[in-house]
Amino acid sequence: MTNAIQFERERGLLTLRLNRPDKKNALTRAMYSHLAEALKQADIDPQINAVLITGSAECFTAGNDIADFLEQPPTSLDSPVFHFMLSLLECRKPVIAAVAGAAVGIGTTMLLHCDLVYISADARLRMPFVNLGLCPEFGSSLILPRLLGQAKAAQLLLLGEGFSGEQAAAWGIATQALDSGEAALAKAREMALRFESLPPEAVRISKQLMKAPDRELMRKAIEEEGELFTQRLRSPEAIAALTGFINRK
Ligand code: COA
Repeated sequence: MTNAIQFERERGLLTLRLNRPDKKNALTRAMYSHLAEALKQADIDPQINAVLITGSAECFTAGNDIADFLEQPPTSLDSPVFHFMLSLLECRKPVIAAVAGAAVGIGTTMLLHCDLVYISADARLRMPFVNLGLCPEFGSSLILPRLLGQAKAAQLLLLGEGFSGEQAAAWGIATQALDSGEAALAKAREMALRFESLPPEAVRISKQLMKAPDRELMRKAIEEEGELFTQRLRSPEAIAALTGFINRK
């Protein structure tokens, strides 16, 4: 497996660490595939109680690799990025995120599907989909208006404005904001290891109950968004914006 995703096992905790520092942990097709496979394995491995997703103390992830979007855009829902989304959506074990620095695009939207999110107060989150000629993804067009109201969600999804880790915690996107990336990781690890002493079946059923009312709605939203997103990737608006990022230096 590529070392752009590092796998660490500590008792019943599996940590998936995004490790592509030269590209701000931008996610490639191969990285999505490894993450999807690891989440599926964790889901069925009785020795694993919880999964922790993290980046570095400087950066969570700059989102989808923009060069990949131009060169090998997903053409259908049967592609690595959607396999990752569905394996995170369907994971029955608790998934905890530790976030610091930039969390852009799917770096923010994946947090909406984690059970617990510990974040540095000065983390920088942003969903610049419209700015890139794209549209919301991963259920964010369903979740954010419900969580924040239409007006605040529009600020994030229609204007693509950024926000801090502190704001994410205040709005309920994160569980708790901490003073630093190190503190966020330490807290996330502590809470993730707590699942070792909780009855796994009770945890599994409780998570299932929390997710059940929206399960079908969420899948449908992810599929609809996904189809439009893949169409948008081929649009002149998106190609100009994505090429602009690649050529900006
Ligand atoms: N895809 C591919 N490469 C990316 C990337 C992405 N999403 N984000 C950053 N990189 C690369 C840069 O091209 C640069 O590579 P280079 O050194 O070979 O030129 C390197 O990572 C460092 O990025 P840089 O922009 O110089 O770092 P920064 O600290 O100034 O800014 C970010 C960090 C994350 C704020 C900024 O890189 C950014 O906005 N990235 C785009 C994020 C985005 O729009 N993602 C949504 C995709 S849907």
